[in-house]
Amino acid sequence: MNTLKKSMTVALLISCFLTLPVLAADKAAGEQRSATCVSCHGLAGKSSHAQFPNLAAQQPTYMINQLQAFKSGNRHNSMMESIAVNLSADDMANLAAYFASQPAAKAGVDAVLAKTGQEKAAMCLGCHGEAGVGNGQFPRLAGQQPDYLLKQLTDFKEGSRKSSHMNAIATTLSNDDMKALAAYFGSL
Ligand code: HEC
Ligand code: HEC
Repeated sequence: MNTLKKSMTVALLISCFLTLPVLAADKAAGEQRSATCVSCHGLAGKSSHAQFPNLAAQQPTYMINQLQAFKSGNRHNSMMESIAVNLSADDMANLAAYFASQPAAKAGVDAVLAKTGQEKAAMCLGCHGEAGVGNGQFPRLAGQQPDYLLKQLTDFKEGSRKSSHMNAIATTLSNDDMKALAAYFGSL
């Protein structure tokens, strides 16, 4: 009887663990934490400054990777490095969940340049998605600030931002290609 009781308790405990929901990122906590991001990234992650990227609707996995990279010093930017050192893994997951849930921003762009960019964009879509919306580790480019996109492509080309995929791709692009691609993805 005692053994039966024990094994029933064990079974009950196991079933409790099995039915525990996987701890989801806490969007509300992310929203609260995002108060320190607004001055640069705008309300709800919609930036109105060309050098500050939109965070709204960005892929959460990608965003967490970037916050970790700023924290570890693998990606360099003095503003973001000083912000990221103060973020825990939970903060990062919560912030990413919050920003990912916000409606996407749209950048104002040069329509003629965007048309040229469209002709060169086919090679990007396999990773960044048909409409440039990204997927997992591949960032959303659609609607992003064109000046920010251009700076990232230049950083990848010069090697000051590291990514095995993007370093190789950016070396094949001219400055004019990068400007046109940045305008095209910004226009989506
Ligand atoms: C003082 C201004 C400033 C503040 C405050 C700030 N950021 Fe940033 N952030 C930047 C700049 C500038 C960049 C672009 C860096 C670059 O050019 O590589 C950036 C880039 C990022 C990126 C990478 C985006 C991408 O598409 O790769 C993420 C993610 C990010 N910030 C999240 C945050 C979060 C979350 C907060 C608040 C906790 C925050 N930032 C606060 C200035 C700021
Ligand atoms: C083989 C897959 C692959 C292809 C093809 C690809 N990318 Fe990327 N791209 C990535 C990955 C992965 C990252 C994220 C790198 C990181 O984590 O820092 C990225 C990041 C970027 C970023 C930085 C975005 C941000 O928010 O900071 C830009 C801009 C970009 N890619 C533009 C392009 C363009 C333009 C093309 C086509 C000419 C292209 N990519 C083709 C995989 C790819």
